[in-house]
Amino acid sequence: MKNYKTSIFTGMRPTSGITIGNLIGAIKPTLDVLEKESSKRPMLFVADLHSLTTNEGKDTQGNVISVLKDYIAAGLDPEKADLFVQSQIADEISKMTIYLSRLVTVSELLRIPTLKEKIRSGQSEMTVNGLLALYPVMMASDILLQGSEYVPVGKDQYPHMEITCEIVRKFNKKYGDTLLEPKPLDQGEPVNILSLTGDGSKMSKTNPNGAIILSDDIDVSLKKVKRAKTAFAGEMNDDLDSLLQIAKYVSTEEEGREFDRLIEEHMEGKQVMGDFKNLLMSSLERFLKDFQSKKAEISDDYVLELVKKGGEKARSNAREVLEEVEKAMGMRFV
Ligand code: AMP
Ligand code: TRP
Repeated sequence: MKNYKTSIFTGMRPTSGITIGNLIGAIKPTLDVLEKESSKRPMLFVADLHSLTTNEGKDTQGNVISVLKDYIAAGLDPEKADLFVQSQIADEISKMTIYLSRLVTVSELLRIPTLKEKIRSGQSEMTVNGLLALYPVMMASDILLQGSEYVPVGKDQYPHMEITCEIVRKFNKKYGDTLLEPKPLDQGEPVNILSLTGDGSKMSKTNPNGAIILSDDIDVSLKKVKRAKTAFAGEMNDDLDSLLQIAKYVSTEEEGREFDRLIEEHMEGKQVMGDFKNLLMSSLERFLKDFQSKKAEISDDYVLELVKKGGEKARSNAREVLEEVEKAMGMRFV
């Protein structure tokens, strides 16, 4: 493959309650790139095959549609992007995952943080399902089949991105230059929005007490902000930094300046965390109302129509890449 096919590529698993962390980690960087370079056409997908690893999606179909609407409600212009669902190209993904698995050792798979986390939380290497171990290889397939140049993701996904690059290097060394490594997106520090409970974990809907879930009742989210851990006057810590990132994301320009001023005063030792939270709650309330009403206006039929088109493009990209991969590996005889 000589050129990238997709300039910006990212995806999410189909969970019913995506959090503001998802938006800031994956969608905001996508929209930031588009703001600078509007000619780029991003591709976003819903990773429904990935939800098989955790059995999370009892209502996978409904959740898939919900995440597609989330992309649009978060500000993605559906006319200027391609949207698709992973299972639309399940055949291509499955083949690519088999080919790429050849290049990864079992011990490398067992070292992956997402798997280690499962093992820490009660499962053993003996009981964890095989697909969970292959998860990063399937993610590499998603990325490489679309010929992706930039892949905006949150910090938790960085180890998976490294594996993708490692797989490309091994593949090209073994079979000749075929695949292109995705490039790191210049978004400064990796994004890791923390749980509002202050326990140091990432914000995730699996720990709902500390998560701003976009579809939740807005008052529930505001109460979580009210209880959120901040920092002592004069100090900055990761909890306050996360709150500030959320504040910047949901605020208007004028509110943004007000947040800067409050943080300055806080660093000078003044007691302003009450004011900071009040402003955050009012900005967040407006943001969530707006997000929820935009989402409510999008019909199921509209998104299904979009993924029909997007799926065709994804399939065509995937088949082109697979053909090159199979030729390089000697797996295509006619
Ligand atoms: P997931 O919901 O796990 O499929 O995540 C989808 C995307 O959101 C990935 O790029 C994650 O890295 C990103 N993401 C999820 N939670 C957070 C968080 N708390 N902070 C930053 N990025 C996140
Ligand atoms: N693994 C990602 C997550 O859990 C979702 C995902 C699957 C993804 N394949 C991808 C993200 C390809 C970006 C590109 O968050």
